[in-house]
Order: sequence, then C-alpha cells, then structure tokens
Amino acid sequence: MDREGDRGGIDRRELVRGSAALAVMGTLVGRIAAAAEGEPLPKPADQQTTVLITGASRGIGLEFARRYAERNWRVIATCRDPQAAAALQALAARHANVVIEALDVLDHAGIDALAARLASQPVDILLNNAGIGGGMENQLFGRLNYATFNEVMAVNAIGPMKVCEAFVKHVEASRLRKMMTVSSSQGSIGSVDAPRLYWYRSSKSAVNMLMANLALQLKNRGIIVGLVTPGATDTDFMKGLPKKMLRPVADAVADMAREIDRFDLSMSGQFLDTKGQIIPW
Ligand SMILES: NC(=O)c1ccc[n+]([C@@H]2O[C@H](COP(=O)([O-])OP(=O)(O)OC[C@H]3O[C@@H](n4cnc5c(N)ncnc54)[C@H](OP(=O)(O)O)[C@@H]3O)[C@@H](O)[C@H]2O)c1
Repeated sequence: MDREGDRGGIDRRELVRGSAALAVMGTLVGRIAAAAEGEPLPKPADQQTTVLITGASRGIGLEFARRYAERNWRVIATCRDPQAAAALQALAARHANVVIEALDVLDHAGIDALAARLASQPVDILLNNAGIGGGMENQLFGRLNYATFNEVMAVNAIGPMKVCEAFVKHVEASRLRKMMTVSSSQGSIGSVDAPRLYWYRSSKSAVNMLMANLALQLKNRGIIVGLVTPGATDTDFMKGLPKKMLRPVADAVADMAREIDRFDLSMSGQFLDTKGQIIPW
C-alpha cells in the first residue's frame, strides 16, 4: 500500500475512478442546470419536420397546409369542423402526410386536450393562422358592437397565445423551434391612416404585443417567435372587394413561407411584411 493508501485507505486506481465519476457528475449537474435555464434537450435525428396550422379549412391556412404537404413535411392541419372542411379533406386524401385534427381556438380545454394527445409529437412550426374580421358593420363608430370586440379578441389575440402556451414543449422538442402568427398590417399603430375596423385592428395590435413578449420569454429556450402578414389576399376574408385589389392566396403564402423559413433567433419578435421588411408597431 502506498502513502496515499496509508492516508485514506484508497489506492491510485480508485482515486482515478473517483475523479472520473466526479467529472461525469459535474457534467450531469451542469446539464441539469443548463436544462433548467432553458438549454434545449437533444433531438431525435430522424424526426420528420412538422407544422401545426390553425384555421386550415380554407383560405390562407389551407394554402399553407398544401404548401408544407408538398415539401413532404408532416402537416397537422387543424380546423373547427373537419367534416365540413371538404377542401382540406381532399388535400389529406392526396397527401398521406396531412393529418386533420379538430381545433377551435376559442376552446381552451380543447387546445389543452390536443396538446396532451400530441405530447410525443415535436412541432417545428406552430402556425397561428385562424382569424376573423368581425364584420365591417360591427365596427362603425357610433354603432359599435361591443360583443364583437370580445369575440374578435378571443379568436385573433387570446387564441394564438393559448395555442403557444399549450404547445411550447412540442416546439421546444423540435429542430426548427418556431412559433409564427399571421398578423396584419392593420394592426400596425404606426401605419394607421384612416379610421376603420376598430376591433380587428386592435386584435392584431394585441397579438403583436403578445408575441413580442413571448419572443423575449422564450429566447433563452431557443424558440423563435415571429409575425408575418399576407397583404390583401383573395380569400373569403376579403369577399366583396374588387379582385384587382387582392393577391392570389398562393402568392401571399409563398411570401410568408419564405419569411418563416428565414426567421432565426436573432429576428425573434419581428413583425414582417410580404417583402421581409419590418412593419412599424
Ligand atoms: N385575407 C387577407 O387579406 C388577410 C390580410 C391580413 C391578414 N389576414 C389574416 O390571415 C389569417 C387567415 O385569413 P384568411 O384570409 O385565410 O381568412 P378566411 O378565408 O376567412 O379563413 C379563416 C380561417 O380561420 C378559421 N377560424 C375562424 N375562427 C376560428 C376559430 N375560433 N378556431 C379555429 N379556426 C377558426 C376559419 O375556419 P372555418 O372554416 O371553420 O370558419 C378559416 O379556416 C387571419 O388571421 C387573418 O386575420 C388575412
């Protein structure tokens, strides 16, 4: 027995083993601390890129579903009434990678239930698209319909926030880690020029603020939060407006998809137009 053994009853090999174990423990403690601070956990290498879209029954949401389906991504296309969503059903029939799920963004228990059912499913892009205009006639000063304000805020601002809160772990577990919201230039306080759409505009300003907050909240967890806008687009949303004022839905979605691809952590919280320019808050 050597002198060290004399002192502590431990031989050199045990000391070496002991310090190796301490080093491993140190690494583990470091990893646990880092995870608590929001460092991402390792990702499965073979994970299929996945997008979850709200309001995918028609319009912009349906076109996003089509576009990502053609990229061969897994598309979780959510809508209020899958039975009634004929165009989405037809898309899913053509693409096995499109899965339809029922989701009403006003139903918070339903959002939690879907998040729980998809608990093992990483979501690369969470795409808050569902939205309502509230009807011009309910937003005329002097005849404002205050019940409509609550409804528009619930769908356009509170709904996306709730979806982000419920699915944060799914996004964190993914490779791309993006939470994107389809906002509107109508929500830009810095750009208002004429009075109109009191409720709709306020709801988009509100969702912009919610997402700007969330971007700061989630940055150290590696989650990118962004806001995109389609511009005036030819969907049911704009029914009645002259077609020459509207862009084809495929063009609007192509522009937004390009910006969504471009978003990285350094851009988190930005509000971008169809050309990728920052829109004033
Ligand atoms: N079109 C434009 O020019 C324009 C411009 C700026 C921003 N945007 C924004 O783009 C997004 C999509 O608009 P769009 O043009 O595609 O409108 P759209 O054709 O009217 O489609 C709206 C979608 O939202 C869904 N939706 C409504 N309420 C919902 C709820 N409570 N839960 C879940 N889904 C709900 C609708 O589902 P149902 O089929 O069940 O009704 C539909 O799928 C909206 O956020 C809108 O504010 C549009």
